[in-house]
Amino acid sequence: MTQLLPDVRETGPIDPHALVDDRPDDGCFRVNRQTLIDEEIFAAERDHIFDTCWLYVGHESELPANGDYLAREVAGRPLIFWRDTTGQVQVYLNTCRHRGALLCRVPSGNAKGLSCFYHAWTYASTGELSALPDEAGYGENFDRDRFSLLRPPKIGSYRGFVFCCFDPDAVDLPTYLGEACDYLDLVADQSPEMEVVDGMHEYSMDANWKLFVENSLDGYHLLPLHRTYFDYLKEAEGSFLDPRKQTRAEDLGGGHAVITVEGPWARPVARWTPAMGEENRAWIEEQRQLLEQKFDPDRARRIAETDRNLLIFPNLVINDIMGIVVRTITPTSAGRTRIAQWSLAGRGEPADVRARRLDSYITFQGPGGLATPDDMEACESCQLGFRSAKEVPWSDISRGIAKERTGEPFVASDEIQQRAFWRHWRDLMSR
Ligand code: FES
Ligand code: FE
Repeated sequence: MTQLLPDVRETGPIDPHALVDDRPDDGCFRVNRQTLIDEEIFAAERDHIFDTCWLYVGHESELPANGDYLAREVAGRPLIFWRDTTGQVQVYLNTCRHRGALLCRVPSGNAKGLSCFYHAWTYASTGELSALPDEAGYGENFDRDRFSLLRPPKIGSYRGFVFCCFDPDAVDLPTYLGEACDYLDLVADQSPEMEVVDGMHEYSMDANWKLFVENSLDGYHLLPLHRTYFDYLKEAEGSFLDPRKQTRAEDLGGGHAVITVEGPWARPVARWTPAMGEENRAWIEEQRQLLEQKFDPDRARRIAETDRNLLIFPNLVINDIMGIVVRTITPTSAGRTRIAQWSLAGRGEPADVRARRLDSYITFQGPGGLATPDDMEACESCQLGFRSAKEVPWSDISRGIAKERTGEPFVASDEIQQRAFWRHWRDLMSR
């Protein structure tokens, strides 16, 4: 007879150590499905994870001109990402100091200042309250300086990637990123200047945010789930992916993790395949030479040849594959997740290379591409399966766990990368 395990949440308060069953010596790593459906756990994640970790806001290149601004939402807070009139990148809490209305109510724009639509308090891009109607009505002790726009407690930028943190006691950004810096460098060094391509994709799914984080690092699902794409590649280009060859998975510490693959597709920087067009071959090969002049051969090879899916804990994923996708995975409830993604590219690449890069990105990772809908469907299917969480309470994430004892290198179809995420999740949730 099948043994029914108790629902661990029925036995008392949230205990992250009971929810993540981590016993490498027994070959066991499993996660209780309550972590993926329980609204109380989601509320605790807001406090223990999203209010303590550094979170991605945007890329500096998204604000090319002084005065450019973008409305963003991070950790449930509305933000204004704004390049002020002095050229400094600013991150403000998007709430009027008067009575709270959203100051910025459009997705993007350019302005030296913004005026609140409610009572017309007006703020400069440098944050000061610059004007308000009938100031005299507040009396002579009114001090505009007390009403400047406020910022998240910490703001930082690494190689153009701007983050903020709502914990004033958090470590600085480079310390937080730790070993992940090396992988961000591999992305940022692909061209003298990187830029976010104009426009973005936004979509959502009826599944827990952590399922999509797991999926983003999951080399095991590639061939079974994305069969259509690999069949298409084979047919269109005669290339195929051998997941057993030249793949790696790494726990980078701090919940960050990466998988690297040497895929069969073109990398605009700087691995040419026929999909990039014969006419672009010389330019792509020249980029490779430039990398080899600038970096040592191994580093140039890593930049040019290896595809990587990088997780910056908790919710930033950079898929540096046939194009570079910068993706944030934002929960709105335990069972609902919003995804935003941007394409990053080398500034000044020829128009035809840019067009092929974007075509390749959209074909695989666009919201209507040959991969992303598969991934959404898989995550939503898991969430539907969790309706039996009482009877089937555990998800297995033990693949490759024996290597934790033997020290053998992990491959992308192992699950050390997901265990790295969940171990850090457990540690933060236990604090
Ligand atoms: Fe903004 Fe009153 S709420 S001016
Ligand atoms: Fe996938």
